[in-house]
Amino acid sequence: MIQNLAVAWYPEQCDESRWPQDIAQMKSAGIDTVRVLEFAWSRIERDDSQWDFAWVHRFMRLLDEAPIKVVLCTPSAAPPRWLTRQHPECLQVRANGDVVQPGARRHYCPTSGVYRLHANRIAARMQHELGGYANVIAWQIDNELGFNRCYCPACETAFRESLKRQYGTLENLNAAWGGAFWSTDAWDWRDVTLPRNSPAPEVRQAFEQFYSDSIIDFMNQQVRALREAGCAVPISTNMMADFTEIDYWKAAQQLDFIGWDNYFDQFTLPGNSLAHNLMRGLKEGKGYWTFENGVNSVSPWLQSAPGFMKIHALSGAAHGEIGHTLFRFDSCPFGHEQDLQGLVDWAGRPRAKMAEIAELSQTLAGWRKEGLPPLEPKVAIIFSWQNYWATRAYYGNSIYSEPYGSYWNEVERYYTALFDLGIPCDCIHPDADLSSYDLVIAPGMCLVTDEQIKAIAAYVRDGGVLLSGRKSFAKHMTGSYRRSDHPTDLIDVFGMRVAETQSNEDGNDLHTRSAAQRRPFRQFHLAPAAGGQLPPTPTHGWFEVLELHGATALYEYTDGYFPNRPAATGHHCGAGEAFYLGTAIDRPAMRELMRICLKSAGIDRMIEVPDGASVIQRGRMIVALNHSSKAVEITIPPAVADHEGDGSIDGNRLTLPPYAWAKLQVDTATWPGQQQCCKSAATAAV
Ligand code: GAL
Ligand code: ZN
Repeated sequence: MIQNLAVAWYPEQCDESRWPQDIAQMKSAGIDTVRVLEFAWSRIERDDSQWDFAWVHRFMRLLDEAPIKVVLCTPSAAPPRWLTRQHPECLQVRANGDVVQPGARRHYCPTSGVYRLHANRIAARMQHELGGYANVIAWQIDNELGFNRCYCPACETAFRESLKRQYGTLENLNAAWGGAFWSTDAWDWRDVTLPRNSPAPEVRQAFEQFYSDSIIDFMNQQVRALREAGCAVPISTNMMADFTEIDYWKAAQQLDFIGWDNYFDQFTLPGNSLAHNLMRGLKEGKGYWTFENGVNSVSPWLQSAPGFMKIHALSGAAHGEIGHTLFRFDSCPFGHEQDLQGLVDWAGRPRAKMAEIAELSQTLAGWRKEGLPPLEPKVAIIFSWQNYWATRAYYGNSIYSEPYGSYWNEVERYYTALFDLGIPCDCIHPDADLSSYDLVIAPGMCLVTDEQIKAIAAYVRDGGVLLSGRKSFAKHMTGSYRRSDHPTDLIDVFGMRVAETQSNEDGNDLHTRSAAQRRPFRQFHLAPAAGGQLPPTPTHGWFEVLELHGATALYEYTDGYFPNRPAATGHHCGAGEAFYLGTAIDRPAMRELMRICLKSAGIDRMIEVPDGASVIQRGRMIVALNHSSKAVEITIPPAVADHEGDGSIDGNRLTLPPYAWAKLQVDTATWPGQQQCCKSAATAAV
């Protein structure tokens, strides 16, 4: 449940005389926390070791008196001018050799020793100066780490050293990277360079890992600096969902809780829900913050509709958020983001959004009183950054390819089917224990270890239900294909093998086209296999043709090069069942396929969620939200014992006006699905 309603506040960007007014307005809107000093380095350290904390103490005292709680930020996202002048070697270098010049932000090299030294020093200094304020509740490291992929000499040396540690010898490295292809072997360590111009997936995969590790190391050093300076409050950073550059599972290890920036225009509605689940999963059980929720969108000209921000926040609460920060409180009349308006305008007058926030804080107070039952999903999606990178490694030729883009899109397609059926879901690491889940979904799990394959196979044999899809289990962690059939070693489990893989670009009629023309994308069609109830659907993107070895076909291609050949299968194996989908299908078709998987897993508390709405089940409670400007109707379980919010109930129909919410208590005796399915019941019995 959201315990902190916060704002990002930039006291260095307005006249001091306005601070008391800003703070008073926060208080009256029910805002209890501020996040400060994120980009204030040039005002705290005007030159090497020339510290000025006097103004910081002045506003910290005001916040203390208010009282308003404080999240302090280390300011390393925006290096001051003097630092990059004195140490130009800490500037980020692009792949083409361009040195990124100051004037914006994030233009530092994450590997740079001298930059780390200064970033750690100011972090420690800030802790010494400000750590004593009793209202400091947490720290945020940097701002949105990433975006500074660097090709400088320091990065190259560090990359080479990391490979020496990992592979020991050049023989090993050449074997792992496929040096026999295009004479790319390195027989001298000096020839192991950053992949400025290398299309090889293995090298790019290694660079992604190195760059991610380098940022995590940069972050961890600041965590250590704060701790050594006596910091005893929790430390986090603001991550981004659908962000490829950092393996957030690894980053999460040194953080006390997860924070992320949730801009509503960056996601579809199901995608936003997926993002919440992923961020919660990074440190399951700890609760997480959103450190930025745009009052506007990232694009300043896109405003959220009146009422939207409240539903957006309640969605966070229902997913497990414990802190919700609005971006931003004040509006800065100068600089790059001068059009981006906060809760008060450039003159400090409250905007209409302020009233919405006051209303939100009232609603949250009500929700807090009652609390929310625990979220205990029986479904998990396996998510990994190595698989994100694997798709990037293809440049434009993503294995999922247009029109549906990335690994995130692939995962989102599966998640959307759960979302459309109102089924809660965890996101888990590929090495996680699967045994507490009744259904495990592994979309786009292209890179996979032998141990993970074994664990997945054992999970099904022991009674679990698995759903996976195209390209999964195809490659080693280096990025090279496995030599054997894919899904390797899982043929028994799926009862099929992948016989053909086909790209989605249409290579026909080449003679009629100029070389520059983009080839059209193919769209084939699927029909349910004999006796099946699944709806017909077009396919999208990369597709696979499946060969049955005991499985039942669920879908077959009706056209294209492989008519009447299977495109989706199901197979009983041991005590469980494994489903496989060889392509991407339409949203309604995906939902019906998911319904089959859920039923097989004994999960039948499905609620059909109409467009624009979301439903989050927490034990006996159903939270229903309307994120849209049109009223929605949701069919709910027959016996609702109790309900709160702005919805009206007529029999088993809940009507929610635009941007409205409802919390329903369901009488469990009358709602199907009380029986735990075979898998979790068996686990519980043990
Ligand atoms: C965020 C960033 C903020 C601000 C905002 C603009 O991604 O963290 O500092 O730039 O975007 O919408
Ligand atoms: Zn560098």
